[in-house]
Amino acid sequence: MEYRIPLIAGNWKMYKTCNEAVDAASRLVKLVSDIDGVDIMIAPPFTSLAVVSEVIRDSRIDLGAQNIFWEKEGAFTGEISPPMLISSGCQYVIIGHSERRQYFGETDETVNKRIKAASTSGLIPILCVGETETQRDDKKTFSVLDKQVKKGLESLILDEHHSIVIAYEPVWAIGTGKTATQDQVQEVHSFLRDMLENNFGNMIAKATRILYGGSVKPDNVSELMALPDVDGALVGGASLQPESFSKIIHF
Ligand code: 13P
Repeated sequence: MEYRIPLIAGNWKMYKTCNEAVDAASRLVKLVSDIDGVDIMIAPPFTSLAVVSEVIRDSRIDLGAQNIFWEKEGAFTGEISPPMLISSGCQYVIIGHSERRQYFGETDETVNKRIKAASTSGLIPILCVGETETQRDDKKTFSVLDKQVKKGLESLILDEHHSIVIAYEPVWAIGTGKTATQDQVQEVHSFLRDMLENNFGNMIAKATRILYGGSVKPDNVSELMALPDVDGALVGGASLQPESFSKIIHF
């Protein structure tokens, strides 16, 4: 049976202090109390994970982190390990976001280490992939995505206890108000699903959720969610306000 529960995920990036995060999460809990059949995740900054986890404890909202380090513990100043995220209440972790690749030297190799560490520790990794505007103009979109997915997921084992989520976020659509067209999104998502099938088999390809990210807003979410291979959204700016994020969740 081909059925994937939609996932609407909010990436709060470097926004919100602890108090602001608690306030936004509390308002969101109320706004989505009627939701059924949609998974919801918010990813506040590391500093707010534990307090937000308390706020959403009895709600339908899951918690995610925005990054992870691959060692369990050690002399790695400034890094956060898988057990730390789990003990802060996380179920998900965003890995390889284009902002990490662009500003913090993230590579497909380090993305792969993070993905494997997250998965073996019981977290659900959300692998972010996407081409820049120049790469799209140069017709390199598919070769870029092929490399990001192949290397990012190299030697990863997926089964009924170890799943991943893929987020297609064209770099040119992030924070720009430029959403990819429905044709562009469906074309890439079906390419990504074919890649999953070739690398992990039919069952995994059918079960894996592929999210779209990049200027998702209340007024464009329903047309994106109508596409056959779009299983959810990874939302930046519009996830910061509980009211607009709730509208997206109620697509
Ligand atoms: P925007 O929704 O602000 O374009 O950000 C998308 C994103 O980067 C989510 O991870």
